[in-house]
Amino acid sequence: MENIGFIGFGNMAQALAMGFNASEKGSSYRIFAYAPNQKKLKENCSRIGSVPCASLGELVSKCDTIFFACKPYQIEGVLGEIGKDLEGKQLVSVAAGWDYERFAGLIPETAKIQCIMPNTPVSVSEGVLLVAEENNWDENEREELLNLLGSVGRVVELPTRLMNAGMAVSGCGPAFVDMIIEALADGAVKNGIQRKQAYELVCQTLIGSAKLQLETGIHPGELKDNVCSPGGVTIKGVAVLEEEGIRSALIKAIDVCAK
Ligand SMILES: NC(=O)c1ccc[n+]([C@@H]2O[C@H](COP(=O)([O-])OP(=O)(O)OC[C@H]3O[C@@H](n4cnc5c(N)ncnc54)[C@H](OP(=O)(O)O)[C@@H]3O)[C@@H](O)[C@H]2O)c1
Repeated sequence: MENIGFIGFGNMAQALAMGFNASEKGSSYRIFAYAPNQKKLKENCSRIGSVPCASLGELVSKCDTIFFACKPYQIEGVLGEIGKDLEGKQLVSVAAGWDYERFAGLIPETAKIQCIMPNTPVSVSEGVLLVAEENNWDENEREELLNLLGSVGRVVELPTRLMNAGMAVSGCGPAFVDMIIEALADGAVKNGIQRKQAYELVCQTLIGSAKLQLETGIHPGELKDNVCSPGGVTIKGVAVLEEEGIRSALIKAIDVCAK
């Protein structure tokens, strides 16, 4: 795995390419990309430091590891054009709704396919990369892929049947968290804090709280209790959030996305 190719070079592919380039592991690979709008592709490649390809065929001939990063509905068309050239290639799909089985019927038998679901924070090496357990990659090559993915975030392996539930959290979740960041910052601004400082306070509070939970493994309810002194300020805010249904709103959002 020396040359990595992206079929489609939009938001997700660029986030991955930026993350790979910034990491020690990822920067040892050459990154190629193809997208139909060549002017836009060349601009994006020169900004990110990857190599633009003039055609799908050129990308496939130069790369042994190929990421499918176009829109899910475009994959069948791409496979129709280059399917037979994928003999022996290592394929990684980031497309929502595509799993191992769906690919297996459409690619050559010798092609390897691994479905993953990254999220956009991979661009700053803090992504979540869901990796479906079902795959036909050789063990050593898959380990190399997982190392590469691990260089831009936390790799979590899931059975295929749970990929949608996982994606509801890590794929859709950044939008929910961004709404929470914006709302908490609005509260800070309402109380006189400058907007820029408000985002700084909110984001670091989120990072710190998340890191504390991940590193200690302490139940989030206990971490919350540790901040709520009896009769104090925080528990009054907690009571307001309960009254407004924050928990059930978030559970319902994950539920609807998972379905
Ligand atoms: N965005 C996310 O947060 C996220 C998270 C997880 C997974 N994903 C998955 O990532 C994939 C891409 O999503 P995105 O948000 O990055 O979309 P996007 O920004 O719209 O990018 C789509 C890319 O596909 C290219 N493309 C269009 N037609 C093509 C074709 N026939 N052959 C090859 N490439 C073609 C587009 O090129 P032109 O601009 O030249 O048309 C563009 O570079 C999707 O499958 C999605 O499910 C996205």
